[in-house]
Amino acid sequence: IFYIVLLMIFSYLLGSIPFGLVVGKLFKKIDIREHGSKNVGSTNAVRVLGFKWGVLTFIFDCLKGALPILIVKYFIGDTNLYVLGSVNVIIMYGAASVIGHIYPIYIGFKGGKAVATSVGAVIAISPIIGVSGILIFFLIVWITKYASIASMIASVSVGVALWVDTVWLTIFIDAGPNNNSLQYNLVNLILVSVLVCMILYKHRKNFIKLLKGTENKFGSKKDK
Ligand code: G3P
Repeated sequence: IFYIVLLMIFSYLLGSIPFGLVVGKLFKKIDIREHGSKNVGSTNAVRVLGFKWGVLTFIFDCLKGALPILIVKYFIGDTNLYVLGSVNVIIMYGAASVIGHIYPIYIGFKGGKAVATSVGAVIAISPIIGVSGILIFFLIVWITKYASIASMIASVSVGVALWVDTVWLTIFIDAGPNNNSLQYNLVNLILVSVLVCMILYKHRKNFIKLLKGTENKFGSKKDK
């Protein structure tokens, strides 16, 4: 338990690093919090810093969610670090990182919307669901031109997919707690649902702007 808590704190501190802000300050001398949607996430990084730096921010934000899970699972490889009783709790490291991104300790707990960080965590848990989430995101962006609508729909879809996957595996495949899935654990699924709700809650301003028709289109430099 001691090491689990320690690794969760590490995940939270890693998740707290606001890469959009770091990349902007380091390479463009711009404080991303003063431009565009003022968000530190990669959508605003694309908007304010340009495509290249936005993609770099996305990759780093993704890695924040994925790394704790990958390190524990593949590099340390000790199941004591993620199996409690008969329950696989590895997703909790991803969740700690996501919470770090939303409430970062280094910048007054005013963080991003955690879409990229969640994508990283989900890819590390279930690559198929994670990559499907990214595809849904781009499909919706392509159709609507709004990153926020795409983020909200992709997040809910991924949440539903994790539920279905877990229930499916629990009913039909008896894979045990060492399996990659979140099975046998309603707590994990409730955690996933809470995270999806947090992402939706963080999009509340986007939602209001969408209703008013003042939301920024993806990639648009215009700051309405
Ligand atoms: O993933 C964040 C995106 O959905 C919205 O970002 O900067 O337009 O508020 P932003």
